[in-house]
Amino acid sequence: MAHLEVLIPRERIAQRVAELGAEISRDFAGHAVLLVGVLKGAAIFLCDLARTIDPALDVRMDFIGVSSYGTAKTSSGEVQLTKDLSEPLAGVHVILVEDILDTGVTLHFLKQLLLARQPASLKLAALLQKPNRRKVAIQADYVGFTFPDEFAVGYGLDHAERYRNLPDICIVRE
Ligand code: PRP
Repeated sequence: MAHLEVLIPRERIAQRVAELGAEISRDFAGHAVLLVGVLKGAAIFLCDLARTIDPALDVRMDFIGVSSYGTAKTSSGEVQLTKDLSEPLAGVHVILVEDILDTGVTLHFLKQLLLARQPASLKLAALLQKPNRRKVAIQADYVGFTFPDEFAVGYGLDHAERYRNLPDICIVRE
């Protein structure tokens, strides 16, 4: 039976998300910003992040869906759009919000897609990143945690669609 080992406890996640929210609040002071979450994994991070951003900022939220052939561990480089945004991006300050930056294939695909829509600016936020797994040269502007090549679940991250609801980020030990 699988055993879950806590890697990043909920208190540490909340603290780091609040730091990112404060950073975004400073960087975008006086501007409207659109948070774009990548389904499904980033949904929980985006909702928590949004609530740590200064309420004085004009914040909107939208979601985009992609599917990649192969698992996140073996991304083949083929990504398809499964759900598009609700509104145009022209002239909008956008922060693309991901749960994890792994090979970089998904964020690279989405970055090109969204830049073609001519936003005023595009920043990338990733709660987690595994820098030594990158297949595509891409960096996030806002990073929560950097960690080694462990398969993490919880706080939005899944294993065969399970564990997304866990409040802590955990490692599955078989
Ligand atoms: C995961 C994660 C990122 C992507 C990162 O998505 O949410 O979108 O993989 O991997 P990459 O950097 O190697 O491209 P997944 O396909 O597991 O879908 P999910 O968000 O619905 O869990």
